[in-house]
Amino acid sequence: MSPAVPFDRVAESLLAFWAEAGVDAMLHDTPIDRIEAGKFVPPKPPEKKPLVAPPPQARPGAGPDVASAVAEARRLAAEAQDLETLKAAIAAFDGCSLKFEGAKQAVFARGAADAPLMVIGEGPGADEDARGEPFVGRAGQLLDKMLAGAGLSGRVLITNTVFWRPPGNRAASAQEQAVCQPFLERAIELVSPKMLLLVGAPAAKAMLKRDEGILSLRGRWFEWRSEAGNLELPAMPTLHPAFLLRQPAAKKKAWSDLLTLTERLDRPDRGA
Ligand code: URA
Repeated sequence: MSPAVPFDRVAESLLAFWAEAGVDAMLHDTPIDRIEAGKFVPPKPPEKKPLVAPPPQARPGAGPDVASAVAEARRLAAEAQDLETLKAAIAAFDGCSLKFEGAKQAVFARGAADAPLMVIGEGPGADEDARGEPFVGRAGQLLDKMLAGAGLSGRVLITNTVFWRPPGNRAASAQEQAVCQPFLERAIELVSPKMLLLVGAPAAKAMLKRDEGILSLRGRWFEWRSEAGNLELPAMPTLHPAFLLRQPAAKKKAWSDLLTLTERLDRPDRGA
């Protein structure tokens, strides 16, 4: 018979084994064999809350009825006489389904209310959703640097085609863009810029209703026209700063677009 191992050595070795396995606290002095006692009940998974909070009838355009949401957005946007009121109207608007898909808040615009240039991006990301301002993440910082380099600091108003963060940064749908459009158009009307810079394919396609890729659209002048046809402005698509962060070699293309745009913005007659 082998000599008995002292109890303290057994206890020590057992404790070391449990510690290694990640057990670092005891809840009771005496052990409870829950399996033996038949008392083990697996914990219930947390109840899944529906993502869409209010009932559909409370949100005119969140469902298939995009047309009535657009009409409501148009009515609210027309009532706003300045950007602050417009911002409040957007925040109170329930017609865009993105509002109910996890966005923390509405993200409207930042910059000068009388800017000669409006910069329009796709939609808020996580940083913008958290801060409530557009283009404040890494892409926004690069955009700011480029605008500053082109002498455009303080001369821009920056906004997006949609005002709530699409979940997981997915692309905003055509319907989501359509219900936000009246607010965006009213912002353009109130700011009355001389021209638009459309950053990234989704913004360029939504604003210009064109289907070419951004590499073909960028650096060219287009005429943007509002839905009602009462507003018209020269608009230039360019590469999105998030793309430039991934493809730094493309920065020179975006830089050249920005210089072309600034040259026209600062030209006394602003002709084509
Ligand atoms: N990308 C966009 O298009 N807009 C933002 O506001 C931020 C990132």
